[in-house]
Amino acid sequence: MKFFKEKTVDVVENIDIDNIPEHIAIIMDGNGRWAKKKGLPRTLGHKAGVETIRNIVKECSRLKVKYLTLYAFSTENWKRPVDEVNALMKLLVEYLKSEFEELNKNDVVINYIGNIDGLPEICKNELILAHEKTKNNKGVVLNLALNYGGRDEIIHAINSLVEDLKLNKLKDSTITEEIFERYLYTASMPDPDLIIRPSGELRISNFLLWQCAYSEFWYSDICWPDFKPENLRKAIIDYQKRSRRFGGLK
Ligand code: FPP
Repeated sequence: MKFFKEKTVDVVENIDIDNIPEHIAIIMDGNGRWAKKKGLPRTLGHKAGVETIRNIVKECSRLKVKYLTLYAFSTENWKRPVDEVNALMKLLVEYLKSEFEELNKNDVVINYIGNIDGLPEICKNELILAHEKTKNNKGVVLNLALNYGGRDEIIHAINSLVEDLKLNKLKDSTITEEIFERYLYTASMPDPDLIIRPSGELRISNFLLWQCAYSEFWYSDICWPDFKPENLRKAIIDYQKRSRRFGGLK
């Protein structure tokens, strides 16, 4: 007689499918350096990065990851040359248009976090449309972080909360973590279990500052355009070897 449920291990890839991170967040870094190494303009690095997005979303769907958050444009990325900013905005619109059918067919929910009011109108409209059309899907939630900054998110949450207090919409005057989290762009989503940063940089760059309190970090020297589904699987396997104690004891 068996007293314990046997673990279902994906033997081919050594992934424990019972311990897949529920929420993976990725800082898609290294597009510019990838392009430079090849003697190409930076924008072609971003274009190659879109191909990686396609493959990684598919892999997350296959592995049944519930949330995939991709840092696509930060509140600080406006400091880049206007041509690069425009190229990124164009890529976003093209991606949403060209990938919509495939993403919808694969049950993906297209979502966004960040101050999308600050994006060009066409980007904002395409995002809202894609979200409206896919919000009832049941597969992976693809969270595109756009005009997103962790500090900006916290300030935005505080302002909305103060507004609700003024309007007497909040019964409690003592603000708890749970109440505060309802005002973040990520309200109702679990915190990221695993944060991946390719390209060799070892910093958080204003990404999910509140939510990363107990995230596991995984870094790699590979630039984002070269990041493959097997690299994602390696990150998950490493994650599965970690002991997560959340400040407590095992
Ligand atoms: C960081 O690499 C990457 C970005 C700031 C943009 C990421 C955007 C995409 C991959 C494509 C557009 C997004 C969507 C959702 C279609 P970097 O340019 O800072 O690289 P570097 O550090 O090597 O210069």
